[in-house]
Amino acid sequence: MNILILGSGGREHALAWKLNQSPKLQKLFIAPGNAGTSKIGKNIPIGVNDFASIKNLVLKNGIHMVVVGPEDPLVNGIHDFFLEDKQLKHIPVIGPQKNAARLEGSKEFAKEFMIRHEIPTAQYESFTASTIEKGYQFLKTLKAPYVLKADGLAAGKGVVILNTLEEAKKELKSMLLDEKFGKASTTVVIEEFLDGIELSVFVLTDGKNYKVLPTAKDYKRIGEGDTGLNTGGMGAISPVPFADKELMNKIEKEIVKPTVEGLKMDNLPYKGFVFIGLIKVGNDPKVIEYNVRLGDPETEVVIPRIKNDLVEIFEAIGNQTLDTITLELDERTAATVMTVSGGYPEAYAKGKQINGIDDITDSLVFHAGTTISPEGHVITNGGRVMAITSFGKDFKEALKISYDNVEQLSFEGMNYRKDLGFDL
Ligand code: AMP
Ligand code: GLY
Repeated sequence: MNILILGSGGREHALAWKLNQSPKLQKLFIAPGNAGTSKIGKNIPIGVNDFASIKNLVLKNGIHMVVVGPEDPLVNGIHDFFLEDKQLKHIPVIGPQKNAARLEGSKEFAKEFMIRHEIPTAQYESFTASTIEKGYQFLKTLKAPYVLKADGLAAGKGVVILNTLEEAKKELKSMLLDEKFGKASTTVVIEEFLDGIELSVFVLTDGKNYKVLPTAKDYKRIGEGDTGLNTGGMGAISPVPFADKELMNKIEKEIVKPTVEGLKMDNLPYKGFVFIGLIKVGNDPKVIEYNVRLGDPETEVVIPRIKNDLVEIFEAIGNQTLDTITLELDERTAATVMTVSGGYPEAYAKGKQINGIDDITDSLVFHAGTTISPEGHVITNGGRVMAITSFGKDFKEALKISYDNVEQLSFEGMNYRKDLGFDL
């Protein structure tokens, strides 16, 4: 089987690494990919939203399956594009159709979905420019801190949490009237602040059946002790130690099942990963967001813990026979540490030579923002550069191995968080 992966991050390198272990895989293509994926398959320099070029690539190379990494092409309807094309419609696409991808593409849509299916989530109301006065009134009824969410995709930056009512009103104005997030903040969801600890649950569904994949916890802030700006994610661990059987049963019963049933009921075609972001408030899990893809860097700890042949799992997604698969998981803990460019998540330089990659032998190295220079060196090409994943009997042991190996790596300006797991 020839497979195309769309995307260029650590998530896509981890998927490529895993798919490459399948005896069913013949040729692997990654568009656009990074330096890490270029060592496993063939990188093709086309963008994930360039559907016409993707079609050419698929037809020219006899590709049998497309695995979509990021949300953008899903929200833009890549799955529908395949289904509507005579030459492409038989090719399975791993990722939901456009209608269902709105679970990530519109916060308001996601909230309405949760309310309709009685899935626990924060209280909310949504507002537009014409109802901004009502928005100010609603803020007054809430207690600090205030959570404001741009409705649309805002490159992970659309959620703002403010400590005072004055700041919250100013932010609402800037989102609704000054288009702070462009079209993404034409509608703003204001919701109740949930006080608790976060975790993510990953689910695979073929639209009929589902499997709950390992849990993970990521560390989003740039600074130690969860301080400073939000990033795409500075590291992750799986499983989450506090996600015991009791909590997982609750999550499955109150959240996962109603989500998959809700998708069916609402006629939202879904063949792919559902990433459910949760906050545990006391003993009650509540949904803070849906993503219609795997997380990054969560993938770098979730995928290595799956022992099954991933090609077989994806085939079962395509055929809607996921019920025939028995998941086999590695019971050990996986931890990943993300190395990032100096300055990230604000302005940073690219093109720095990365040394020491080959010295890492007892961890997995997943490239994120890397490329190959004309001289053949691996160089930095993004904010998040490389994730180092290790296994251990617990998260402490796994993290120690990753940290020891991160020290083998070097590039100008390299930064990483040294306190992962501090809150556990
Ligand atoms: P998101 O972009 O939806 O992942 O949200 C970013 C972060 O905002 C989450 O990881 C949470 O830490 C936080 N967050 C979102 N919604 C809430 C909420 N209702 N209460 C508290 N924190 C929240
Ligand atoms: N690590 C968070 C995300 O992928 O959205």
